[in-house]
Amino acid sequence: MVDLYFLLEYPIFRDFGDADLEALSGRVQELRFAKGQAICHEGEAGDAMYVVKEGVLDIQRMESGHLHHINLLSAGEFFGEMSLIDGSPRSADVLVKEDALLIKLPVHVYQALKSELPSTALKIADVLLKTLSHRVRRSTKRALESERKQGAA
Ligand code: CMP
Repeated sequence: MVDLYFLLEYPIFRDFGDADLEALSGRVQELRFAKGQAICHEGEAGDAMYVVKEGVLDIQRMESGHLHHINLLSAGEFFGEMSLIDGSPRSADVLVKEDALLIKLPVHVYQALKSELPSTALKIADVLLKTLSHRVRRSTKRALESERKQGAA
């Protein structure tokens, strides 16, 4: 059983009650990764999403021979949800920047939860949607800022 109560420290997971956390604790895995390890690579099939319990992860992508750092993740954040949601290959590389402890939620477990424990599955979906919405807002802001800078140059 994996202790998931740390999630309640983060506002985005506050809707999760004891029943959700207990049900999930027997269905997820806790995995340790050392600094420098790659969790996944762009283009690979994605079979799970991961929540960061400890450590720092670097999301990056090679574009036209240049390495772009997309985001840094720490405890309470997650990655791998894009493949989990749409079944597409991984959209970026994820590397361990500081030794990490991750909670792995496999796709098949998430799919099974939808019929076995729909209210828990809905809370997970809600967290994913809120995060994706936040990212769209951030991308819009960055795109507008970049347009403004180009216009000023
Ligand atoms: P996935 O595509 O499954 O695997 C790579 C992960 O990197 C992806 O899911 C997201 O969790 C994360 N990721 C990719 N692009 C971005 C982005 N623009 N902002 C934040 N995280 C991202």
